[in-house]
Amino acid sequence: MTITEEKIDSVRMACAALALQRGEPVVFPTETVYGLGADATNADAIARIYTIKGRPACNPLIIHVPDLTAAERIGHFDEKARALARAFWPGPLTLVVPLRKPSRIAALATAGLDTVAIRVPAHPVAQCLLHAVERPVAAPSANPSGKTSPTRADHVHSAFADEISIILDGGPASIGLESTIIRCIDGQTILLRPGILTRSMMEDVLGTAPDMIMENGPPSAPGQLASHYAPRATLRLNASHVKSGEALLAFGPTPVAGEDRALFKLNLSIDGDLSEAAANLFHFLHQIDEQGATTVAIAPVPSRGAGEAINDRLKRAAAPRPDPGSHILDPESFRVPFVR
Ligand code: TXA
Ligand code: MG
Repeated sequence: MTITEEKIDSVRMACAALALQRGEPVVFPTETVYGLGADATNADAIARIYTIKGRPACNPLIIHVPDLTAAERIGHFDEKARALARAFWPGPLTLVVPLRKPSRIAALATAGLDTVAIRVPAHPVAQCLLHAVERPVAAPSANPSGKTSPTRADHVHSAFADEISIILDGGPASIGLESTIIRCIDGQTILLRPGILTRSMMEDVLGTAPDMIMENGPPSAPGQLASHYAPRATLRLNASHVKSGEALLAFGPTPVAGEDRALFKLNLSIDGDLSEAAANLFHFLHQIDEQGATTVAIAPVPSRGAGEAINDRLKRAAAPRPDPGSHILDPESFRVPFVR
């Protein structure tokens, strides 16, 4: 059942919260992407999330709570973590902090790590649900593992109609890219996943920018694996022209050479606005698959501001796809290498 935003009244919200409390999965909107939620304290409910997504069990989930007070019950926040939380929560930021022990969070949700990823989303439907359920909600993006993230309820419906009985439809996600992930441990901050909140925005709060993950080091989290966010179509990045048989994903007002021969054309932002491009990216990757393109020429997107996160997602979406099952990771690979 998909419940549209205008119909999400208090009765339906209570039903969704009750379903979560009973161990059922519930899809809910956030301002970044849609989440596939489960009670983070219920190991069986969490196991079901991994099964539905086809996600390797060593890839931990983000725990969603309504505010910093609830977050501090789950993790240890040092001064830097608290400063980032105060500046950007509720919002598109996830903080990885040491897990408080003993913990009510199911070990499967954190993949047995002694750290935990926590987020306070701003979307009113997410906020309302988290208040109503009165327990932490683990929620990965609501897409099959490795595939394009959902920014609309329709994207979830077409992937999971049979597996999930409640989808809360909060309309198109306003940001459209997953949260920025910052690891805050022992006074050090490291950017694990770029998002709409940039390192320079963190620097304004912290005084120094978070460290960067080493480009070619072992992955710090499976979301950092080369192939991710992948549509069925093959993507050709930084294309200066369109080859025959290709669709075109353009950016900005400048025409791309040979665009007349494109199977079809989508423009991430005709005005060259990077926030608009971020909000459109995953929806357009879904549309490209729906329209049956097999190869897509992607015009260059500048790497400033939100462009860093857009190019990160495009690079992973274009990367060679692993054989099924071969992306199972050893939890040891979670050790975080970094460069300043
Ligand atoms: O915007 C978002 O963050 C969305 C919405 C639904 O909140 N969620 C999301 O979840 O993107 P997911 O599961 O698709 O990505 C979570 C990422 C994964 O790359 C995971 O490996 C990483 O967070 N992660 C979770 N716990 C971690 C930890 N303790 N240390 C390092 N990375 C962690
Ligand atoms: Mg995801």
